[in-house]
Amino acid sequence: MAELPRYGLPDGDAERRAYAAIVAQSFAGDAEMFEGWVRGFGDGVRVLRDDQLLAGLVIYEMGQFFGGAAIPTWGIAGVGVKPELRARGYAREMMLENLRENFESGPAISTLYPAAPRLYRNLGWEYAGARCMFAANLSELPVAETSLELREAGPADQHILEDLYRRRHQHENGCLDRSDLIWERVRRAPKETPPYSYIAERDGEPEGYTIYTQKRQSAKSFRYDLLVRDLVCNTPDALAAMLGLFARHRSVASRLEFYAAPDDPIALEVARTTELALEQRMQWMLRIVRVRDALQARGYSRHVAADAVVHIRDEMLPGNSGDWTLQLADGRMRVTPGGKGGPTMDIRGLAALYSSSFAPAQLRAAGLLTGTDRHDAPLAAMFAGTAPWMPDFF
Ligand SMILES: CC(C)(COP(=O)(O)OP(=O)(O)OC[C@H]1O[C@@H](n2cnc3c(N)ncnc32)[C@H](O)[C@@H]1OP(=O)(O)O)[C@@H](O)C(=O)NCCC(=O)NCCS
Repeated sequence: MAELPRYGLPDGDAERRAYAAIVAQSFAGDAEMFEGWVRGFGDGVRVLRDDQLLAGLVIYEMGQFFGGAAIPTWGIAGVGVKPELRARGYAREMMLENLRENFESGPAISTLYPAAPRLYRNLGWEYAGARCMFAANLSELPVAETSLELREAGPADQHILEDLYRRRHQHENGCLDRSDLIWERVRRAPKETPPYSYIAERDGEPEGYTIYTQKRQSAKSFRYDLLVRDLVCNTPDALAAMLGLFARHRSVASRLEFYAAPDDPIALEVARTTELALEQRMQWMLRIVRVRDALQARGYSRHVAADAVVHIRDEMLPGNSGDWTLQLADGRMRVTPGGKGGPTMDIRGLAALYSSSFAPAQLRAAGLLTGTDRHDAPLAAMFAGTAPWMPDFF
């Protein structure tokens, strides 16, 4: 049998099972459940091996919205190293191999939630947005009259949900252009309680939807909380309809938890009548894998015309390093190698700028942008946008 490469796809079921066992142990899960999870990724699994399986990861092939355009990305998850083999550099080696593969034949960006941020930062990922979970008391929600009808959503309505989701999130930096696997995560039924789903309509025209589950506060109590997975409201009336639906659970339910942008219209409306707690804030990271492709694929304002030069420093992917000239006009970015007199930007800085998470002045404070500040104003204008976030975890 030909010798297998050190990094690559798993070789058959035995290696898939061995990787599933690593993920199960890494994330305190059930090995059988993770075998099914790994199978679901098909060819989106990578492992590192020598005479045994050392580590593995999975790839969500999906998109991420920046500037209104969906940029294909590899969402990296399930990064795990056999516990007895940790702290020997295997995770770093596997992630670097993955980056090189991504540079050669994958999409222009890569996204992940880091449990070990230093591992990814050293390889060029940077914090670029957040997933915020807010909580409010159901009994204090603002309840307003609305002329919208609520109806339960079934499997045949999936295209309506996807259309509403896209209309609401396409112009939010960082939100996922969800793949089927991500939608499956949103719809997955937990053991205790099924997900419920409703669409708010006016004369049959959908304006919003929600998917939520109910969680008992304890085994002894009949009271529960509402855990909202998706709350997509494209009009104030749709939000009023959904808040009314949630509020009408208050005889037996106490709290509402939902995911929203740091300054979301939903959060502002809820905060009108009740204290809103930020329960959880998880930050995701972005890696610009191919500078030119990533910059040219992003969306930009048609009302900004600007030119800038930057000198990119990328030790892991030298193909990105060097001077680049950026010319933005009519909503299209033209990127050409070369140019003179630009500031030096670490590839991590470009991720933060690209996502609209940091402006040039903040990059300077973080040490990710140095040298002349002559190009700061055009760079700020090119990448100005709303705070990046996403409602999903993967
Ligand atoms: C996190 C994990 C993948 C690291 O694997 P590893 O092979 O031990 O990591 P490496 O030896 O390649 O170390 C790479 C870098 O990550 C850092 N790192 C490693 N383990 C870490 C940990 N538990 N917490 C924080 N940082 C860690 C190291 O300091 C090292 O940084 P350096 O290059 O500056 O020295 C491994 O501990 C693991 O499988 N943990 C359980 C699952 C998990 O948390 N996965 C990450 C999901 S995003």
